[in-house]
Amino acid sequence: GAPVTVNVSKLEPGQQMTVEWRGKPVWVIRRTDEMNENILELNDVVKDPLSKEADQPAYIDGELRAIRDDYAVVVGICTHLGCSPQFRPEVAPADLGEDWLGGFYCACHGSKYDLAGRVYPNQPAPSNLQVPPYRYDDENTLTVG
Ligand code: FES
Repeated sequence: GAPVTVNVSKLEPGQQMTVEWRGKPVWVIRRTDEMNENILELNDVVKDPLSKEADQPAYIDGELRAIRDDYAVVVGICTHLGCSPQFRPEVAPADLGEDWLGGFYCACHGSKYDLAGRVYPNQPAPSNLQVPPYRYDDENTLTVG
């Protein structure tokens, strides 16, 4: 499949957009400082905080899993059986509980991921969401693939 180029400048802080790449949904999320702080809060909670077992390019590393901390780019397919998780950025919503700091929730079998796509422990999903290959062509232009 061909690379896909998107303009991310219209994305408001906290918003998600979906780009189709090789038939897969790729999510771009403009993360706020608060979102990134909440991800770091979960370093001792998530199963694989540094994504050592994850499917991601070699140039992606660290807890935030992004080239630029203000934009997450992940494949929106649950690593369990391939459902598409829901973007649930809110903190402590009634249905997900007090400990929820924002992330992705897969309603198929209940897997939880944080806003870097890192899976919580003891979930049906075995690993973190995939990060696709991508690059920035300039400040506002992102190419996936
Ligand atoms: Fe997501 Fe099973 S497919 S939890």
